[in-house]
Amino acid sequence: MDISLERVDEILLEHDYDSSALIAVLQQVQHEAGYLPVDVLVHISEKLGVSAARLQALSTFYKSFSLVPTGRHKMAVCTGTACHVRGAAQVLEGLERELGIKSGGTTPDRRFTLESVRCLGCCSLAPVVRVGERVYGTMDQRKAARILEEYQ
Ligand code: FES
Repeated sequence: MDISLERVDEILLEHDYDSSALIAVLQQVQHEAGYLPVDVLVHISEKLGVSAARLQALSTFYKSFSLVPTGRHKMAVCTGTACHVRGAAQVLEGLERELGIKSGGTTPDRRFTLESVRCLGCCSLAPVVRVGERVYGTMDQRKAARILEEYQ
């Protein structure tokens, strides 16, 4: 999940090298590469005549952008109140153990990024885990570990 500078040039061309399309360009790079590599940001900065400081500010302001490589699948364990009282901490702990990473980390093979989030808005299903757009309810350590097998 990396991206070549040639591909970045294609994306810039699709947006007519218009600096007002900067966010759309960054979103496309994030989508294709899984993160915003530093060399790509420098390239975009030069091609669009946008300061590195502005790019840095945008990249860190929007939560959907990441400056470090992320996994192909983003796994979020809800640790909001309803999930917390029903064992979210144990679910998270089990996933950290299964994946060999801590919350906020990415597996070395970039298969998963694991994170904890606050209330996914489906508290009646607590504890809840989300992978990409899919939500799994009434989780426990065993069920959460089985979810991993669905994603390669
Ligand atoms: S607290 Fe987990 S979904 Fe609301």
